[in-house]
Amino acid sequence: MKIIGTGSALPEKVVTNDMLAGFLDTSDEWITTRTGIRTRRLLSHETLRELALKAAQAALQSSGLRPEDIDYLICSNVANSYVSPSLGSIVLGQLGCSCPTFDMNGACAGLVYSLDVADAFLKSRDMKNILIVAAEQPSRFCSWHDRATCVLFGDGASAMVVTQGEGFKDFRLTGDTHTEVMYYKRQMERTPYDRVEEPTEPLVMNGREVFRLAVEACINDVDTLLERNGMTGADVDLFLLHQANMRIIECIREHLGQPKEKFPTNIQKYGNTSSASIGILMDEMSRSGELKDGQTVMLSAFGGGFVTAAALLKWSAIQY
Ligand code: UT7
Repeated sequence: MKIIGTGSALPEKVVTNDMLAGFLDTSDEWITTRTGIRTRRLLSHETLRELALKAAQAALQSSGLRPEDIDYLICSNVANSYVSPSLGSIVLGQLGCSCPTFDMNGACAGLVYSLDVADAFLKSRDMKNILIVAAEQPSRFCSWHDRATCVLFGDGASAMVVTQGEGFKDFRLTGDTHTEVMYYKRQMERTPYDRVEEPTEPLVMNGREVFRLAVEACINDVDTLLERNGMTGADVDLFLLHQANMRIIECIREHLGQPKEKFPTNIQKYGNTSSASIGILMDEMSRSGELKDGQTVMLSAFGGGFVTAAALLKWSAIQY
């Protein structure tokens, strides 16, 4: 499987750390030194559906394919205002596609999870082209009175078209139950019969524990993929990691003993956009020419669950 098109879309509204310090007990200094984040984009007058559509259209256009060429649409999304229909179903018709679609919730690892599923579909079914969209609005999971969570996230969407061909070499996915370290409970309707009180709650996160689990699990995934493929960190040109915290990326980089240039970031501008983050980074780097033909790339992401997903691939240049 290889990637033949990429796209991304971000909300217009730029929110700086100083803007947050205007109503929260926080500071630009704290947020920058603890996370690396300077600004984030937040949905204001747009909807997530619109962002998802924009990213998908850009990916489709760069792939050179027509909507009718897409055999499946996989949409990675943790939550949006529609529980049903799926975000994929909503985007599908507006794109002019009429293929099957489903939403996948692999938390922040959802894009790499989707790539793994797409790879399996392309190998086992009579399909040629799959569109993957990762669209997230984590800003709407947080309490905006909770300085420990709301400063971390940004909204955004990314998309890619994958097809049969040489590119992805290997995947490693993991899952484990650590509900208590990070969860968000949204509202369900009551019935006359339910007897289990489940209060809704904005995002609850044990930041330190997530940090620890993230570093440990990502290192494990990356080391496993390298070892399985007879490689070392030196054989990888770029590590495109989930953009959750600059210090997490730095811990992984230090473990691998590789130079900073191999770990590009855009968390400074966009914050943590959940499963959209790696796709936004890829799209920006592919369009700017920083991602070059033939480069060996490692993707690695982690998220609530606790789930992780990593992939090893050779990049093929895309003409935009
Ligand atoms: O996609 C996965 C999403 N989640 C993550 O990736 C989270 C991973 N974890 C992290 O990135 C870090 O743990 C955080 C950035 C969330 C927090 O950094 P930390 O160095 O682990 O800080 P902490 O949670 O231990 O808190 C240290 C202090 C606390 O004050 P006290 O108890 O020492 O007085 C917090 O109340 O920092 C305080 N604090 C803040 N201060 C100013 C927490 N948030 C803020 C804030 N501004 N925004």
